[in-house]
Amino acid sequence: MRHVYDVLIIGSGAAGLTAALTLAPEMRVAVLSKGKMQAGSTQWAQGGIAAVLEATDSIQSHIDDTLIAGAGLCSEEATRYVVERGKAAIEGLIALGVEFDLAGDNGAPGSKAREDGYDYHLTREGGHSHRRIIHAADATGKALQKTLSERALASPNIDVFENHVAIDVITDRHLETDRGYTDQAHGAYVLNLTNHSVETFSAKATIMATGGAARVYQYSSNPNSSTGDGIAMAWRAGCRVTNMEFNQFHPTCLFHPNERTFLITEAMRGEGAVLLGKNGRRFMPRYDKRGELAPRDIVARAIDSEMKRTGAENVWLDITHKDADFVISHFPNIYRHCKKLGIDITTDRIPVVPAAHYTCGGIHVDLAAKTDLENLYAIGESCHTGLHGANRMASNSLLECLVMGRAAADNILANKGNFPEPAEARAWDESKVTDSDEEVVVSHNWKELRRFMWDYVGIVRTDKRLARAKRRVDLLSAEIHEYYGNFRVTADLLELRNLVTVSDLIVRSAQMRKESRGLHFTADYPDCLEDARETTLIPFGQAISDRVE
Ligand code: FAD
Ligand code: SIN
Repeated sequence: MRHVYDVLIIGSGAAGLTAALTLAPEMRVAVLSKGKMQAGSTQWAQGGIAAVLEATDSIQSHIDDTLIAGAGLCSEEATRYVVERGKAAIEGLIALGVEFDLAGDNGAPGSKAREDGYDYHLTREGGHSHRRIIHAADATGKALQKTLSERALASPNIDVFENHVAIDVITDRHLETDRGYTDQAHGAYVLNLTNHSVETFSAKATIMATGGAARVYQYSSNPNSSTGDGIAMAWRAGCRVTNMEFNQFHPTCLFHPNERTFLITEAMRGEGAVLLGKNGRRFMPRYDKRGELAPRDIVARAIDSEMKRTGAENVWLDITHKDADFVISHFPNIYRHCKKLGIDITTDRIPVVPAAHYTCGGIHVDLAAKTDLENLYAIGESCHTGLHGANRMASNSLLECLVMGRAAADNILANKGNFPEPAEARAWDESKVTDSDEEVVVSHNWKELRRFMWDYVGIVRTDKRLARAKRRVDLLSAEIHEYYGNFRVTADLLELRNLVTVSDLIVRSAQMRKESRGLHFTADYPDCLEDARETTLIPFGQAISDRVE
């Protein structure tokens, strides 16, 4: 089956839906999600969205904080571009109907309205020198995803395809007839999970909005969808990827036998929660003068070091010294969730551990979200704009999704008349494959991959660990590639194929960085070099970095 649209957007999170809603007044848009519309990370975002919204704050301060957290690797141009558009992006969401918390008394959320409008409650997170995080209680993502999804479903120009897994970008080599173009995207091959057929989506422009790759690790705060599909697809299609070694571990995921992915928002530390070690004492002041509000890389490494030093399985997050009403009004979802598991956060300390949370690197794009492949754009967590550098500052991700979703759409609209008509691709060929009789290969390799990535490519790395990981990645790549060539595609196989590609990109990038910077810490090169450089990998060729050996 062939679908034809002006624009194909792969992903229905904050980034994809922002682009879709911007395009819809003028173009026909298809939005794909490999699960339900809310399958991505957006739905799970807690803390909020960073933006300069108060007179006492400034654009320069938000930029400076982002650059400091990014440990010398942020692009100042990209940072300014995104930060300057923050206020307009938030106003756009309020106009669409997202209900952010209003300010109240005593610093807690409440119901204040001013004569000139509403007074929103702003919270604080690590690395931010001001209160600048606008939020909807401790479930900002849910509010955002709901409003954006409702708006997209109501638009006559947007068709949403749930349970459709994009397999690969259609490029010139997939076309029925050679149109003489080079390096263009023409849509994607997509597995329809309802009827198990592979369909063709042809489009003038294609946007990757597939989210990050944190599920490459055994323990992660992310939903199952974060398997780096867009990064792997763009790489196979010939796009550069940048800074894949910078994998962010969130310091405080709940540590509980029945729950290994639930996040305890950084905003809790922003509102005064402290981290306690095995002995019940605070340890962060020994690691950084900013204490619990140091940037995430520093807090996650400190926790890792405390756990290793004391042999503890977890550390503790404590907000019991705050008034119970304050805690419940600020963190109602976390309160309810923990209570169900037998932890009352107003009286009990919360057991926490770090877990893989965010992919700072990704598909190399410019500030119009354009990739190396003509007519292919990338936005949101799948892309690398240069905003996050070596360590993303809290709540800058949703901001980037909104700003870059809009940037991609604006660029497409501005060039509307210049795109060629969607080209016809060759049909998907399943004549040489059969149904798998060994699904166990997929499930076994999936577990093995995520385990060794956690053990060898985690918070603290060494040359030896990375070399071990690389040998295993090579072995699994060969096996999975062979399997992919012989059997009909399934959602699990497609995700595993992408995970192994992304793991390879992460390990190779990590091996190239002979220093410790931001989220990349290696015991073999503990110092940060004076000269900060990105790690960029080029498909079908040599990686470019001055540190390639
Ligand atoms: P996602 O929201 O992840 O959406 C990806 C979409 O792509 C999904 O629709 C998925 O189905 C689809 N997809 C993926 N692969 C395919 C494929 N092959 N075919 C078809 N569809 C595909 N950031 C902040 O700024 N503030 C926060 O408070 C915050 N809290 C967070 C809390 C948690 C628990 C987590 C996990 C993340 C948090 N983040 C936060 C990070 C932020 O939520 C994400 O970076 C952001 O939501 C990513 O949005 P996105 O649109 O790029 O992708
Ligand atoms: C959190 O609420 O701690 C997550 C914020 C983020 O990842 O930006």
